[in-house]
Amino acid sequence: MTPPWQPLRAAGWQLSDDPELLDRPRVWRWLSLEAPWAHGRSPEAVNTALDLSLTVGVYDSAGLQRGVARCVTDRVAVGFIDDVFVDADHRGKGVGRWLVCGLLQHRLLREIPQFTLVTDDAHTHYAAAGFTPLARFQRWMQWRRDIGSAYAPDPWAPDSPPGSAG
Ligand SMILES: CC(C)(COP(=O)(O)OP(=O)(O)OC[C@H]1O[C@@H](n2cnc3c(N)ncnc32)[C@H](O)[C@@H]1OP(=O)(O)O)[C@@H](O)C(=O)NCCC(=O)NCCS
Repeated sequence: MTPPWQPLRAAGWQLSDDPELLDRPRVWRWLSLEAPWAHGRSPEAVNTALDLSLTVGVYDSAGLQRGVARCVTDRVAVGFIDDVFVDADHRGKGVGRWLVCGLLQHRLLREIPQFTLVTDDAHTHYAAAGFTPLARFQRWMQWRRDIGSAYAPDPWAPDSPPGSAG
């Protein structure tokens, strides 16, 4: 099967995991302005996430970044794919698939037995790379800060002085 990104690669586009190549202001604009899940995210927060993940980009023949994706990972057991974004003018050419496969097949992530992600409406995109709905989803649990905090007292907070309420 011919990979969908082959014509792009033939035209001089490249996939890279080099953090130095990332166009951070561009990635920040994409995520904070155009990606509903990251709306309003600060440049500092975007940079932190890029740096603490394994991040890949696709660059055109002039070196301009056309897409980004990252994997939150310990490189052993956990791989969570996030912030997959392709420039609006370059969608439908295989860039998204290139980014996702670039993470799934990355040499540093080969030990990871399964990858997960969350998507509102791009299921078809990930299905094209082999993703399926969660098997045995009943085994998975989530903790949400807006709900769970009420049940999880903060052990890092200083103790209340003796005799004080609360
Ligand atoms: C979703 C997104 C990353 C796909 O990137 P892309 O470069 O356009 O995708 P590709 O050209 O590699 O397409 C790969 C497959 O996904 C499908 N696909 C692409 N975009 C899709 C979308 N938004 N929803 C559903 N399927 C999509 C294509 O039909 C294609 O399937 P095929 O190979 O069987 O024809 C891109 O549309 C995007 O950045 N959207 C806005 C941000 C977003 O929604 N990100 C995903 C968050 S989970």
